[in-house]
Amino acid sequence: MSKQFDVVVIGGGPGGYIAAIRAAQLGFNVACIDEWKNAKGGPALGGTCTNVGCIPSKALLQSSEHYDHASHHFAEHGIEVKGLGLDMAKMIGRKDTVVKQNNDGIVYLFKKNKVTFFHGRGSFAAAKDGAYEIKVAGAAEEVISGKHIIVATGSNARALPGAPFDEENILSNDGALRIGAVPARLGLIGSGVIGLEMGSVWRRLGSEVTVLEGLPTFLGAVDQQIAKEAKKAFDKQGLKIALGVKVGEVKNNGKKGVSVAYTDAKGEAQALEVDKLIISIGRVANTIGLSPEAVGLALDERGAIVVDGDCKTNLPNVWAIGDVVRGPMLAHKAEEEGVAVAERIAGQHGHVNFNTIPWVIYTNPEIAWVGQTEEQLKAAGRAYKAGTFPFLANGRARALGDTTGMVKMLADAATDEILGVHIVGPMASELIAECVVAMEFRASSEDIARICHAHPSLSEATKEAALAVDKRTLNF
Ligand code: FAD
Ligand code: NAI
Repeated sequence: MSKQFDVVVIGGGPGGYIAAIRAAQLGFNVACIDEWKNAKGGPALGGTCTNVGCIPSKALLQSSEHYDHASHHFAEHGIEVKGLGLDMAKMIGRKDTVVKQNNDGIVYLFKKNKVTFFHGRGSFAAAKDGAYEIKVAGAAEEVISGKHIIVATGSNARALPGAPFDEENILSNDGALRIGAVPARLGLIGSGVIGLEMGSVWRRLGSEVTVLEGLPTFLGAVDQQIAKEAKKAFDKQGLKIALGVKVGEVKNNGKKGVSVAYTDAKGEAQALEVDKLIISIGRVANTIGLSPEAVGLALDERGAIVVDGDCKTNLPNVWAIGDVVRGPMLAHKAEEEGVAVAERIAGQHGHVNFNTIPWVIYTNPEIAWVGQTEEQLKAAGRAYKAGTFPFLANGRARALGDTTGMVKMLADAATDEILGVHIVGPMASELIAECVVAMEFRASSEDIARICHAHPSLSEATKEAALAVDKRTLNF
């Protein structure tokens, strides 16, 4: 007889492992199956986010930023650095250690919460007696069964037709995070989140970086005032971003690197020669090896699992969350859905507010936002007021020597409810949290303007942006 569980989670990324823990907290007997292998073939819980996404990218962003500061900014502080060097093996090794700490942390959490972990690939085998049989193909093969199944199988990097990833010359996010030596010339296709974060890492470490973007608009989903400010900063740093290009033939020349033929925005033919090429043109939902057809689990035309607003699939008691379903491909969105689904299985009213999911791009300056952009409000015909405050006028930013950017707040013209906050500048990733709380509680801009903020702190710029909505900044 197969091992039986109340809840079986397929996928141990931020969606899956969090769903498993929350379900266990609610008293269910829970199993989680994950197939990720570390370099030694052992388990590496945490999915894309932990292994080749959020965590390793932020580790390298931090290391490369230290190097950039030591190379270019310490002198402003009167600190002289002589004989500055770069030990790439050590930098990549540190990143790997950070990843492992996170992998091990999840193993500990599973033990603490009594989640049974299976290392291997999970696939639907059959629906039987009000439960689902799931085949686990790991070191051994076995079948387990669950009354509820949560699919959290994540996503994979989208490849460019005609340019398959070899992770040597043509890299996905995986190869991009373990380049062994700084490439003299690095190309990126796609100036989205990965393009900008990875481009920043390698530019800071000394690569000449060229990013080819298909759309004519830079960061089209971002509030355009903020995107323009960010673009100015990236231009100044020497990150070359070509917009409105059409990528043609990509040739992998082995040891000689990669050639990219493209047409620029003026329609002129161009050629780019690089040592490495990162393709960052989005990600695709992953159901490889899941055998959805075995039970009739519905996928949409892009291969994502079809779910309703509550993450219910077309099958009773089968749920799907995170990157494998619609919505933004963000770790915290996957986590929120995981918690909500576990609570719904327990008969509670789990909720995810899609209007208040924050976005962060961890470049320098950081870009963060929540809610609607000015362009979206205009398109919706909504009457709004806008207030901006530059970090140039913020005492803490001056002391940090990091005055690029601004906070921009958008509020309803009649009710003053905050509709969106957009930040480009230092620690935008942390500053946005206050704005998410404000929007979740449906605060007005006046609420933020009347709240005492510590001095000197970057958060005063948020308060001043709120004051700016009412045209009464105090420090600008
Ligand atoms: P995943 O994390 O992809 O996890 C899915 C897991 O399921 C994997 O371990 C996979 O091996 C396993 N699996 C798949 N199929 C099976 C199967 N049949 N059987 C068993 N196991 C299976 N998001 C942020 O919010 N912030 C960031 O800073 C950020 N940075 C990123 C940087 C990069 C370079 C990339 C690529 C992504 C980044 N993301 C970031 C996005 C984030 O990684 C994803 O949104 C998040 O990982 C999605 O979580 P998930 O649980 O849905 O899927
Ligand atoms: P993306 O969707 O952010 O950006 C892809 C870019 O590639 C777009 O600007 C698109 O116009 C462009 N593009 C697509 N096809 C092209 C082509 N053929 N030629 C030229 N340009 C082309 O996707 P990205 O950067 O791959 O990241 C995937 C996802 O991972 C993100 O959407 C995000 O959800 C997640 N992520 C989140 C991070 C964070 O939260 N800080 C960091 C990194 C990734």
